[in-house]
Amino acid sequence: MKVNGTPYRSLWWDETAGALQIIDQRWLPHDFRIQQLDTLEDYAVAIVEMRVRGAPLIGATAAYGVAFAMSEDASDANLDKTWDHLHETRPTAINLRWALDRCRRALRAVPEAERAAFALQMAHEIADEDVEINRAIGRNGLEIIRQIAAKKPAGEPVRILTHCNAGWLATVDFGTATSPMYHAHDEGIPLHVWVDETRPRNQGALTSWELGSHGIPHTYIVDNAGGHLMQHGLVDMVIVGTDRTTRRGDVCNKIGTYLKALAAHDNGVPFYVALPSPTIDWTVDDGVAEIPIEERNAFETTHIQGVGDDGEIAWVRVSPEGTPGGNPAFDVTPNRLVTGLITERGVCAATPEGLAGLFPDMVQAAE
Ligand code: MRU
Repeated sequence: MKVNGTPYRSLWWDETAGALQIIDQRWLPHDFRIQQLDTLEDYAVAIVEMRVRGAPLIGATAAYGVAFAMSEDASDANLDKTWDHLHETRPTAINLRWALDRCRRALRAVPEAERAAFALQMAHEIADEDVEINRAIGRNGLEIIRQIAAKKPAGEPVRILTHCNAGWLATVDFGTATSPMYHAHDEGIPLHVWVDETRPRNQGALTSWELGSHGIPHTYIVDNAGGHLMQHGLVDMVIVGTDRTTRRGDVCNKIGTYLKALAAHDNGVPFYVALPSPTIDWTVDDGVAEIPIEERNAFETTHIQGVGDDGEIAWVRVSPEGTPGGNPAFDVTPNRLVTGLITERGVCAATPEGLAGLFPDMVQAAE
């Protein structure tokens, strides 16, 4: 997608430097900074500190991390060590394990002398695949938006609520939840997006920044506004992303998603989740019981980041000094609250049969 008219992906390989470049998302939307990753520790820190974030982007970054590690030491021992090191960076988004497993499995079958080049090629493949998957999600989600638009008076916008940032910044390009929006906007369907701020880290600001850059009308709202807007008939549909979806269709996503799903259910608002297949954890059934939820530093809740009138980016404390903060980063929405899953292969019910119908090959591979 474009930043000030220049097309970007959220990460890219710089052939001249022989290194990965990322957009350091800690500073967005206030400042656009690019960082080069030069050590394996740079990769781990980029994921831990959420310089790169969003399930698919974490997976793609990890794949490049493996490629970097193989360029230094292509032994089996280092492959395992790298897997462990990168895997422990963030526990919830399953794309991380998916990418690490895929790389390790393939690399084990490759002679050590060829591993560095092979791993880099594989990382490129994972990144390119992510772009194509998200493009397909956009086309499939567009169909749903078209149907909602067709029932509205001509020219009235389809009003979509979204939570967190499941945009191009959270993936390699297009985003998951935002891809149908970009596709609909480009087709000329009028949209208005309600963007949850998504405390504590305000990833909604990233979504606003993205949508604004693409010319999609939107309004930035506090996390608690969604239920009220739905009660007053101001939301036609919800689309969110996910960090891990179980084989029966429970959806783990940024903290607060569950409350939006409850409000949507109570008000008869369709609640869709957009996901690439690498986000499905075929080994897990009951998301509430089985998905590990990342507990992040309480500083993120007691403090908030913003930009002052002097243009300086700063963190300010919002709670009394010394107040203990709690910071569970994700929650799980049970499948019964999900209207449909928008995937690269089509839209399905959030049920074991729905997912198995679209991905029989993956169900079989997981057995
Ligand atoms: O903690 P984050 O910012 O990595 O969490 C991101 C989200 O929860 C997104 O909504 C989810 O990863 C989907 S990204 C396409």
